[in-house]
Amino acid sequence: MKVDVLLGLQWGDEGKGKIVDVLTPAYEIIARFQGGPNAGHTLEFEGKKYVLRSVPSGIFQGNKINIIGNGVVLDPSLFKGEIEALEASGHDLKKRLLISKKAHLILPTHRLLDACYEAAKGDSKIGTTGKGIGPTYTDKISRNGLRVGDLLYNFEERYNKAKNRHLNILKQYGFDTTALAEIEKEWFAGVEKLKEFTFIDSEHYINNAIKDGKKILAEGAQGTMLDIDFGSYPFVTSSNTISAGACTGLGISPGNTGEVFGIFKAYCTRVGSGPFPTELFDETGDKLREYGFEFGSVTGRPRRCGWIDLVALRYAIMVDGATQLIMMKSDVLDTFETINACIAYEIDGERLTDFPFEVGDDIKPVYVEMKGWQVDMTKMRKESEFPAEFNEYVAFLEKELNVPIKIVSIGPDREQTIERR
Ligand code: GDP
Ligand code: IMO
Ligand code: MG
Repeated sequence: MKVDVLLGLQWGDEGKGKIVDVLTPAYEIIARFQGGPNAGHTLEFEGKKYVLRSVPSGIFQGNKINIIGNGVVLDPSLFKGEIEALEASGHDLKKRLLISKKAHLILPTHRLLDACYEAAKGDSKIGTTGKGIGPTYTDKISRNGLRVGDLLYNFEERYNKAKNRHLNILKQYGFDTTALAEIEKEWFAGVEKLKEFTFIDSEHYINNAIKDGKKILAEGAQGTMLDIDFGSYPFVTSSNTISAGACTGLGISPGNTGEVFGIFKAYCTRVGSGPFPTELFDETGDKLREYGFEFGSVTGRPRRCGWIDLVALRYAIMVDGATQLIMMKSDVLDTFETINACIAYEIDGERLTDFPFEVGDDIKPVYVEMKGWQVDMTKMRKESEFPAEFNEYVAFLEKELNVPIKIVSIGPDREQTIERR
């Protein structure tokens, strides 16, 4: 059995959580492979809504095993809050949520460093989620990090060493650390909660499961255009969000990966700073934000909105090797008379169809205008009900992207998901 990978093809918030939940019945194990509580994965079913941050999105259907992989960075205090909210709504995960000993810990001082580095950037801020993601991955790469497994061995000494190193840096920046004592208190309470769960050597667990023929789905966070190597650097997150991240983030070989489900919105959004060629600053952008309810599920920040960008999407599909596409939130376009799709960029009169190294303000999107379907699709349940103009839009995208769109999502609820044949 090969591990299927599900990931975002744009700048995050494509609707990964919803689709992982929808696909969960077909799998036995769901494993998050990177990112941390910068993620906010929303699921809606039976009139209830959940936002998951570090916990994989496969927890709501049929008692499946969920794994937080080694590639994830985990903040015990946020984890505790997430688990307690789930427990309060009747979901006890103790027996079916397993945590990799090799996942790195986000320390209280990582959160302070995130805020400190952002402040120091002045007007070139990344607009991070402020969860300590960058500093934690920095410590991982510079071989200074602490891991979940370290909680079991002589932790206090290692913790104090890391904390003091961070405090020295914060002091150099003159950063106010008075909040630290309070954050630390919550963090250590979080550690106690975390210890109620089973820590595993997840690479062994997952590879044994592969040998036993178990079906595994790897859940990505963020999106390809936020990838540390291939995203719009430096306005990216600090992990490999691409399909290859599933290999390093779970300890599986490339030969053991199967389908790559690439998820995209029928338009584009982005939170935080960085290039966004098709961004709309007009009423159309406001309408996308309003109809799509485009406000961050973690920070509540309004998301920047624009037309679909096929140059960026083709690039994402290429680096991910996406084998199937899933189009989300087409219902947001239900009332639009016309819909634009960016098929190329233009710089100084020259056309570009390959995503360039530098995406500056001089890039102009080249659009194809499509006729909108202007039909409320949110109650449709079969492909045969789709309006002709919608089918034309999908066929156009498939031709441009050269990968089949297998599922379309026409609303936030689990039920509002239609398979295409
Ligand atoms: P994720 O981070 O990729 O899991 O996505 P988020 O949960 O951050 O953002 C997606 C948002 O769109 C959430 O509020 C979802 O409930 C919502 N959503 C998902 N699919 C659809 C859809 O097809 N239509 C609409 N209108 N909303 C959707
Ligand atoms: P999900 O999994 C959208 C963005 C931040 C910022 C940049 C770096 O819900 O799709 P970080 O805190 O990671 O250092 O921030 O990345 N970002 C996301 N944007 N969805 C996410 O996750 C994101 N996680 C990080 O806004 O621009
Ligand atoms: Mg999200």
